[in-house]
Amino acid sequence: MLIGGRGGSGKSTIVSLLARKLKNNGNKILVVDCDESNLGLNKILGVKKSNETLMDNLGGKEVITSKLIDIIQKENKQINIFDEMSLDSLSGEYVSWNENLGFLEIGKIEHVMEGCACPMGAVARDFLNHIVINEDEWILVDTEAGIEHFGRGVLEGVDFIIIIVDPSEDAILLANKAFKLASENNKNFGAILNKIDDSIEEILKSKLDSNINILGIIDYSSDIAMSNLKGNSLESVFIDGLDDILKCIN
Ligand SMILES: Nc1ncnc2c1ncn2[C@@H]1O[C@H](COP(=O)(O)OP(=O)(O)OP(=O)(O)O)[C@@H](O)[C@H]1O
Ligand SMILES: [Mg+2]
Repeated sequence: MLIGGRGGSGKSTIVSLLARKLKNNGNKILVVDCDESNLGLNKILGVKKSNETLMDNLGGKEVITSKLIDIIQKENKQINIFDEMSLDSLSGEYVSWNENLGFLEIGKIEHVMEGCACPMGAVARDFLNHIVINEDEWILVDTEAGIEHFGRGVLEGVDFIIIIVDPSEDAILLANKAFKLASENNKNFGAILNKIDDSIEEILKSKLDSNINILGIIDYSSDIAMSNLKGNSLESVFIDGLDDILKCIN
């Protein structure tokens, strides 16, 4: 599943909470960090990073960019790097495994003037299109803010899109637009309302497209906020309702 939403809505927090819950329920999970800017997902999740990002492992951004240019010139629109893969077949060079919880970063912006993040998007798209999972295996994709990953086609190999809606007009507008785009692409779609209290819940529900499936509601939690501020993982933070959210997705 792919988790999107506006900046700061709680995407990385909720990816981490769901990943931990799935792991504790006996599943094998790969968390894929598709955010090219933010650096702290592994900390929120409470896992180590691997030595390399996937981009590094493939030879770096220049290599991927020149492949992309070649492809565009030949008018064959899609980069093709990977063959069919399973979670067990992924290299430890770019996936760090913490028992049954794997963590992979697609790539980060490293240099001034290095150019746009499209090569990362192309790699993420091809990776997600070729990874095959079994029952009891999950892939959770954390994305950068906004819907650029929709434009880059990262959602192509994803079976469920979740948009995180925090209390803001932009979050509502983005959720309604993402729902439209996901529907055009026949993707399962749901929203999680985050940082909620009673007065806010009804306003958000009244403004969201009434066809959007609301998978769950996560209250504002000072434990979450404090844990983030201190740079701690969410490992020991308990949040109600995660199992119900997962039931809606499965
Ligand atoms: N339910 C919640 N209650 C209180 N604070 C929360 C909650 N969810 C997230 N936060 C806090 O909101 C901030 C943003 O959360 P997070 O980094 O998960 O958002 P994001 O959508 O991934 O942001 P970005 O767009 O930058 O990737 C963090 O400080 C986090 O601790
Ligand atoms: Mg984030």
